[in-house]
Amino acid sequence: MIFDVITIFPDFFSGILEQGMLKRARLSGHADIRLHDLRDSTDDRHRTVDDRPFGGGPGMVFKPEPVFRAVESLKAEAAGSDFPVILLSPQGRLLNHSVAQELSQQARLVLICGRYEGVDERVATHLATDEISIGDYVLSGGELAAAVVMEAVTRLLPGALGNEASVDQESFASFDFESGGGRHGLLDFPQYTRPPEFGGLKVPEILLSGNHEEIRLWRHRQALAKTWRRRPDLLAKSRLSREDQVLLEEIQRAEMEPATQKV
Ligand code: ADE
Repeated sequence: MIFDVITIFPDFFSGILEQGMLKRARLSGHADIRLHDLRDSTDDRHRTVDDRPFGGGPGMVFKPEPVFRAVESLKAEAAGSDFPVILLSPQGRLLNHSVAQELSQQARLVLICGRYEGVDERVATHLATDEISIGDYVLSGGELAAAVVMEAVTRLLPGALGNEASVDQESFASFDFESGGGRHGLLDFPQYTRPPEFGGLKVPEILLSGNHEEIRLWRHRQALAKTWRRRPDLLAKSRLSREDQVLLEEIQRAEMEPATQKV
């Protein structure tokens, strides 16, 4: 997958590209991350990318010309093949697992990192095909957001992690209900490793039992319970099986009853 990142801070990305999963994905050829300095698409001596907002107000706004020029030169180079052009901004649709999955189906993505007080709206309305936010807070630029999108999308590319099972197992992985999948959009169950006892804190007995079916059920119950306590909004959205509903009622009853042990 090709990511074209349009930014005024290309050096910002050196850390994340040279370490961990994104580095491996680049080396194995799963991800090709191309950084484009927006200032290279300016045509004045000062390489100006921003200007004062019409109508007044504080701060500076990205001018449309360099951004249009940067994207158009990518399109010209790609000769006819079409790809999404994504503007990272707090006004975009919220990134979540299903948006990341949707983006991972593409062969190429252009990511425009905004800066300062904003980007001329004509970029959003007449150049970008999509606008994405990574959360309801304001960053001073889209670079961190572009990094988050690349990380979330790349790890979904087949073979990029080198361990396919972990994508399916983790929080928000959506199992196919039609084929009888179990968890859907739940938080992860708790994980433990050695030692079995640390400073008096014990690993739940069941995980040491070797009983795979019991362990599977315990994990499922833990995932449901944690999701219900911390992210009831996720539960409201997910299609719980009848079995899950019964399990959830049990969890809720246990929670209401102070004398019983909590899951
Ligand atoms: N740029 C500034 N804030 C942002 C956010 N929350 N998501 C995406 N891009 C941004």
